[in-house]
Amino acid sequence: METRLLTSAPEDLKLGAEIINRGGRVIFPTETVYGLGANALEEKAVRSIYDAKGRPTDNPLIVHIADFEDVEALAETIPEKAKVLMEKFWPGPLTIILKRKPCVPDVVTAGLDTVGIRMPENEIARAFIRKCGVPVAAPSANVSGRPSPTNFSDVFSDMEGRVEAIIDGGDCSVGVESTVIDMSGDVPRILRPGGVTAEMIEAVIGEVQGGTEVKPDEAPKSPGMKYRHYAPKAQVYILKGDVDEVNLFLESRKNAGLLCFDEHIPYIKADVKILSLGSVKKPEESAKLLFARLREMDRLGVEEIFAPEIGETGLWVAVRNRLYKAAGGRIVKAKKKVLVVCTGNTCRSPIAEGIIKKNCPLWEFSSAGVSAFEGEPASENAVLVSADMGIDIKSHRARLVNNEMVEEADVILTMTASHKAMLLGLYPEFMKKIFTLGEYSGENKDVSDPFGGDIDMYKNCFLEIEEMVKKCYDKI
Ligand code: TXA
Ligand code: MG
Repeated sequence: METRLLTSAPEDLKLGAEIINRGGRVIFPTETVYGLGANALEEKAVRSIYDAKGRPTDNPLIVHIADFEDVEALAETIPEKAKVLMEKFWPGPLTIILKRKPCVPDVVTAGLDTVGIRMPENEIARAFIRKCGVPVAAPSANVSGRPSPTNFSDVFSDMEGRVEAIIDGGDCSVGVESTVIDMSGDVPRILRPGGVTAEMIEAVIGEVQGGTEVKPDEAPKSPGMKYRHYAPKAQVYILKGDVDEVNLFLESRKNAGLLCFDEHIPYIKADVKILSLGSVKKPEESAKLLFARLREMDRLGVEEIFAPEIGETGLWVAVRNRLYKAAGGRIVKAKKKVLVVCTGNTCRSPIAEGIIKKNCPLWEFSSAGVSAFEGEPASENAVLVSADMGIDIKSHRARLVNNEMVEEADVILTMTASHKAMLLGLYPEFMKKIFTLGEYSGENKDVSDPFGGDIDMYKNCFLEIEEMVKKCYDKI
């Protein structure tokens, strides 16, 4: 299909409106992101939106209007508080869910008895919708799963050949999608954070639900979250840690990109592609830049994108929401806490701890034993062999493994399968982070106990552990 490129001139908007009235699709700019529009009242036209995006049809669309009186044709009832929101925030980045009228086709609402309505602030959008003379259903104009497009070139690269026309409106001023608020029930509820913040809404209608998000750190739970959202081709991770830890961590990555606030950029020494998310003090800059930056990372050809932790108030909530979704909940700690466990914590685990401390600056190491005598020093031969290899474990003192240590650790490495079994019996809830060193290194064998053996036995033990530890480097 040939895609016509239109400007915002009145005669071009008229051409676009004619396409909509013939049942076609036109992409138009809004202040949030570009929208992929069709006549909201015509089922077939709306269906073709899903085709162009490759989007599952179980996700309802927002209906865009140009003037206040257009709401009545779509909504059965308009509660008082909804009216207050419209007066305060329309035109603008707020979508209001209301009970729908029967004229709104099921395909728009995915069969729900409600409809999401929004009056965009962007002048081109409103002029275009007004010329269409019908409400315009429009999701974000990206191929499903990709970051929403916030400038003409991103929309063009996703959608050229998939729609009848694209109106060029330059860059979107807000950059993240509208806030979606459900006003159809007894209690107002924010379903998606966006350009209008929970604080702004609460200031005019009082308390709303869903203002602060349910823990974004948690792994995805609902079936809808199995779809990738806002995701570039590279894998996105949220990277936690201070500047030194982050630098060390990034040094070990081969082809990585870092999204970073301007204030932090001077401190990044690692050889990675860095793109700015604006000032750490200005969420509106991050919102505006985020989607374009994710796409830019793909053009730079990086394989992994690391992004910073984001605040949890105001417009940051929307930025954080998009970034966590793009990352699919994947969070990486720049510095991992590793606990090594053996029996008495006097031979194998202090040796392993020493080796790893020396070789893996990014691991915060400690060791313990499943039946250790608290305070006992490392065995004499373990100290001698380690000293020979340049590792000092003289001051090591044995510790008995406890709940706090297990809980704090990111990874627990045991010397043998029986240590692992013992820990699993004591701490089944931490199953996912307990491995034998053999398993973790891909060797699949136990480290045998040199306890009471001669110096050669200890030396062999040292070399065995060292080899296994080296095989673990890449994992962390
Ligand atoms: O800023 C925006 O909202 C952009 C521009 C183009 O207006 N549009 C947009 O549309 O982001 P889309 O389809 O990508 O996201 C619409 C969101 C979805 O999360 C959808 O589940 C929700 O709005 N939604 C729409 N109608 C709904 C309804 N009746 N009930 C609950 N959620 C609804
Ligand atoms: Mg979208």
